[in-house]
Amino acid sequence: MMPPRIGVFDSGVGGLTVLAALHRQIPDTDFLYVADSANAPYGERPDEFIVERSRRITRFLIDQGAALVVVACNTATAAAIAALRAEFKVPFVGIEPGVKPALRLSRSRRVGVMATPSTLRSAKFSALLRTHAADAEVRLQPCPGLAEGIERGWLDDPALLRILEACCEPLRREGCDTVVLGCTHYPLLAPQIERLLGSDVRLLDTAQAVARQAARLWEQRFPQGAGTPAPAGQIQAWTNGDPVLLQRMAALCGLGDLAVARLADI
Ligand code: DGL
Repeated sequence: MMPPRIGVFDSGVGGLTVLAALHRQIPDTDFLYVADSANAPYGERPDEFIVERSRRITRFLIDQGAALVVVACNTATAAAIAALRAEFKVPFVGIEPGVKPALRLSRSRRVGVMATPSTLRSAKFSALLRTHAADAEVRLQPCPGLAEGIERGWLDDPALLRILEACCEPLRREGCDTVVLGCTHYPLLAPQIERLLGSDVRLLDTAQAVARQAARLWEQRFPQGAGTPAPAGQIQAWTNGDPVLLQRMAALCGLGDLAVARLADI
């Protein structure tokens, strides 16, 4: 009998920022991670494509023993989590741009949201804005090309910094004092974003909140010592992209030397 595991997936390397928060929150838990890098970026794809990839990856994770799935991708959460919940019996935890905490923290009540074009045009995100930001100024900043550049490993490449500059300039001009990183890839660029926006602008992502929520659900489902074999706190990852890039980004997230296998066609 295998210990129960938490499955985590993203369009690519971005979900590692959530996996790192999960691993810090519940270090004795075993995790499975899928990076669908061959199909990234999701944020510039049609919804049907994102739903189909999310279904296939979820099935793969469940076949590998996942008893809870964290959708570590804002774009896939917006496009696909309802379809996943309808199809699969395991519980899901998704991720959304942290508009509500950003408005709570902002002194000027001028908040920016950097996210993929797909997330920003989704019905789920519109509902989030209606509920939490009806009377606030929220500057929506789509960032096409950013996740793709990160998938190429370009963190400090001039081409990526040009894209980033174009995304940050409107936020700086409009005096946003709090900026939501609404794509799990973007925290990998936090130092570069901070350099462009200035250190007085607060950057916010929701990885930690997602990790707390997943930990609560996990503890309800598998209370410690409830007759399942003890997990060892191991992480197994798969990618259909570059395993070396995944390992490099994992190390950057504080996940050490990640065990990565090739993801066959799923
Ligand atoms: N990491 C994903 C997110 O949180 C999207 C990146 C992509 O466009 O593939 O939205």
